[in-house]
Amino acid sequence: MIVGSDLSTVKKASEAIRNGEIVVFPTETVYGLGANAFDPEAVKKIFTAKGRPADNPLIVHISDIKMLADVCCPNEKAYALAKKFWPGPLTMILPKKASVPDIVTAGLDSVAVRFPSHKTAKKLISLSGCPIAAPSANKSGKPSPTMVSHILEDYSEDDGISVVIDGGQCKCGLESTIISLVNEPAVVLRPGFVTVEQIRKIIPDVTVADAVKNKPDENQKPLSPGLVHRHYAPRAFTVGVLGSSEKAAAYINKEIMLSGKKSGVMCFDGEEGLFLSEATVLRYGQKDDSKKKAGSLFKILRELDRLDLDVIYVRLSDEKGVDLAVYNRLIRTCGFNTVDADKLPCVVGITGKSGSGKTLISERLEKEGFCHIDTDAISRKTLDYGKDELCKVFGDDIVGEDGRIDRKKLASVAFTSENNRRALSEITHKYIMREVVSVLDKNEKNGVKSIIDGAVLVEAQADKLCMLLVEVKADYEVRKDRIIRRDGIDEENAIKRLNIQTYEIDSDYVFRNNDMKEFEKSFSELLQILKGE
Ligand code: TXA
Ligand code: MG
Repeated sequence: MIVGSDLSTVKKASEAIRNGEIVVFPTETVYGLGANAFDPEAVKKIFTAKGRPADNPLIVHISDIKMLADVCCPNEKAYALAKKFWPGPLTMILPKKASVPDIVTAGLDSVAVRFPSHKTAKKLISLSGCPIAAPSANKSGKPSPTMVSHILEDYSEDDGISVVIDGGQCKCGLESTIISLVNEPAVVLRPGFVTVEQIRKIIPDVTVADAVKNKPDENQKPLSPGLVHRHYAPRAFTVGVLGSSEKAAAYINKEIMLSGKKSGVMCFDGEEGLFLSEATVLRYGQKDDSKKKAGSLFKILRELDRLDLDVIYVRLSDEKGVDLAVYNRLIRTCGFNTVDADKLPCVVGITGKSGSGKTLISERLEKEGFCHIDTDAISRKTLDYGKDELCKVFGDDIVGEDGRIDRKKLASVAFTSENNRRALSEITHKYIMREVVSVLDKNEKNGVKSIIDGAVLVEAQADKLCMLLVEVKADYEVRKDRIIRRDGIDEENAIKRLNIQTYEIDSDYVFRNNDMKEFEKSFSELLQILKGE
């Protein structure tokens, strides 16, 4: 296998094509695995190397509009589209000519034709002196290759590829738009960089195949065989997640914690901070930058695939313009397994320092139909789960006469320094969180809204399970008085307790609560926000 990027490599590749061999070449969309389109034996080698099912036809690539009539019967619409979008990332399906062997079209009466704009692709075709039949150069089922390292990942010497032309990173990064002009009205079978909106300007009645956005109906004959095959799929189980950043992240984090599986996330730029620290997070572009996302999604999917993850969560965006192409590829990546986080019941987190008045808010929200998940109560319930680990760190004296952890004794040794407190958290938080996510999951399945509150919320990363984080705030003196009254401790101990809590919270809403009047005002504001959720 020769790999190179210079003109001599292109010449060698064209010789290989003429000799009935297969070669990899760059295009503006993705890399192609090509052979002489008029040579059935050569084309057969593509199917073998790629592991492509024989019922999935190939695209015939040309380097001059004059070549179009050599392979198909073009109509007026074809010429109109060619004038506007060729050379470029558009493939047209037209009635085939007898010159094209059946193996190329998988026995169909129609043939897919594309005139790429990539200089090297055009050069290769013209030097070869024949149209080149080529699918995307990935092994069947894998994400399409957008750089040569992807080719070298998929193929070995044994696959019989003669030459690989390195053209660097493909500009679009996503395969061409496919439109069928065989029947009326014309129909887009695969969206791409040439958008439906652009095509509509030339063919106003163009339609979009149902399978572009939805799972193809298994009982119906597909318009394009390629639309039904499993595609673009990493090895890991993959889930597509729609919805706002906060809601999607809350859902994904819950799933990661619940499953305990090795997980990765492919998110939009700016979302990376929303996920649990144990997840591998890669971003693929700004939510509203469809071209950037299109260009990097296959590369990122391959990167995630190399990490040997159990589950990959992929953020899905909407369906306009080039985003339709991104959506179309990603729902196939996920095997149509998608979740709309905006439709899930709301999860609100209530946090705040001791004495700020979290409990009262939770009680009031319960009356509004929320299920209250009290992490303080859960922490009491689950404390003994970590008994052995705690004794190892803090000594056996923390165990009371009943054989259970004595909270007061534990507090007297654990709250003495920041280090001790951290050690305590490390042990207890995981048991608390397991309980929290199992209740959350139950609520989600029953359509019940949840509130999570408690002192450990942020520290234990439970805030990452919340779609909205509320911080309750009250003045220092107010909180001190409340603690003294509530817990029956003296001023000195209350001050000690308050001064340990030095962390800052990055919340979505600050709930001011110095007295009942302020409480009522804040509470009605919060209800307004929740109504919008
Ligand atoms: O950008 C691209 O189109 C790249 C580069 C290399 O040109 N090629 C590409 O080829 O993506 P491939 O084989 O991965 O996808 C071609 C799709 C397949 O889904 C196939 O089923 C469909 O085109 N197709 C080919 N001929 C067809 C036909 N006659 N009728 C319906 N669908 C057809
Ligand atoms: Mg392909």
